[in-house]
Amino acid sequence: TGAITFDPGYKNSGVCKSDITFLDGEEGILRYRGYAIEDLADKASFLEVSYLLIFGELPSAKTLEQFENDIRKYTLVNEEMKNIIDGFPKTAHPMGVLSALTSALTAFNPKSVNVENQSDLYEGVCKTIGKFLVIATWTYRKSMGYPLNYYDNTKGYVENFMNLMFSLPTGPYKINPIVVDALDKLFILHADHEQNCSTSTVRMVGSSHAGLFASISAGVSALWGPLHGGANQAVLEMLEEINKAGGDVDKFILKAKDKEDPFRLMGFGHRVYKNFDPRAKIIKKAADEVLSSLGVKDPLLDIAMKLEKAALEDEYFKSRSLYPNVDFYSGIIYRALGIPTDMFTVMFAIGRLPGWIAQWKEMRLNKEPIGRPRQVYTGSPLRDFVAADKR
Ligand code: CMC
Repeated sequence: TGAITFDPGYKNSGVCKSDITFLDGEEGILRYRGYAIEDLADKASFLEVSYLLIFGELPSAKTLEQFENDIRKYTLVNEEMKNIIDGFPKTAHPMGVLSALTSALTAFNPKSVNVENQSDLYEGVCKTIGKFLVIATWTYRKSMGYPLNYYDNTKGYVENFMNLMFSLPTGPYKINPIVVDALDKLFILHADHEQNCSTSTVRMVGSSHAGLFASISAGVSALWGPLHGGANQAVLEMLEEINKAGGDVDKFILKAKDKEDPFRLMGFGHRVYKNFDPRAKIIKKAADEVLSSLGVKDPLLDIAMKLEKAALEDEYFKSRSLYPNVDFYSGIIYRALGIPTDMFTVMFAIGRLPGWIAQWKEMRLNKEPIGRPRQVYTGSPLRDFVAADKR
């Protein structure tokens, strides 16, 4: 088999060829299918971008409308799924519940998606996008003890997110268009990011020809960790802690630099971006706009800005090229929109779903081999077996 290249964390290994997302970490460039992230965040809708990522081209107005309608068809989730939700304690983390429910979709939709068959694939895509949104919001309804809501066919996908989350049987729920626009933008910014941990997990699981839902469920689990998607929850918890400690930003900078202390500045640093994260730039601006248009004054935003400034001026962070990443400001927006902290990573998952689907599809259509890395064995050489009574 020849010599094995040792590359922990795949820091320098290209594991696939991909037409989906272009990322230049030195220049801070991110493009989906050739379109600049700045343009997409500003001008497109989340489902439009989802279509682009998955099928390769921006849809015409008619195709987009058809896509939205087709997704609607699949937003009913089997009632028996509720039995599974009932089994969880109310205190369960929504990401754990989401991963389990996504996996459970396999049982209720056992026909596996035939990636070679266009109509089968299209149906699988619409089904996944439709059902995932509903179950994602159910994780929150469960944690609150609220009745589970159903998709409202008179409303758009992102409006439905707000409705599914927050509408109660006790009265009408008014959706704020500012909130919908902000969420649409956030979902677009999270929609794909080439071979990140959760996406490569989806590709890896899918490479054994496990089904689409099973692969996505594995992606949800990978995203949950605080070094990846879980960072957005961790950022907010960190900002709250700094606030409680009287806003002493420097103390936390010192902690982050201390190699004896496991604390890291959450929302800082990125495996690939070494100059700036273009998504963070857009989000910082959006956070300002959303807070001012909603009339929210959040002390955590001031702390975040102070922390960012202090870190950017600090030699430790400068010499390691550590900049704020996408998660640094997203939590502040989510908070302003009334989304609870433990749902932040679920928000990331809803946004990342089209990317996972697009990458799964590409991996299968490219007929990629099963993912099976090698290792450098560091264990014991051959040993003689000793019977239990002699050990
Ligand atoms: N705070 C303090 N030190 C840091 C941080 C941080 N946030 N990030 C990296 N470092 C240090 C690290 O200790 C190491 O120092 P040294 O060379 O002295 O050992 C150096 O910078 C390089 O770090 P690394 O861990 O080798 O870099 P990586 O590419 O393996 O990790 C990362 C990237 C994103 C996991 C890491 O920067 C991190 O843990 N950041 C905080 C968590 C976070 O915000 N994650 C969200 C990432 S963006 C969204 C997403 O992908 O989901």
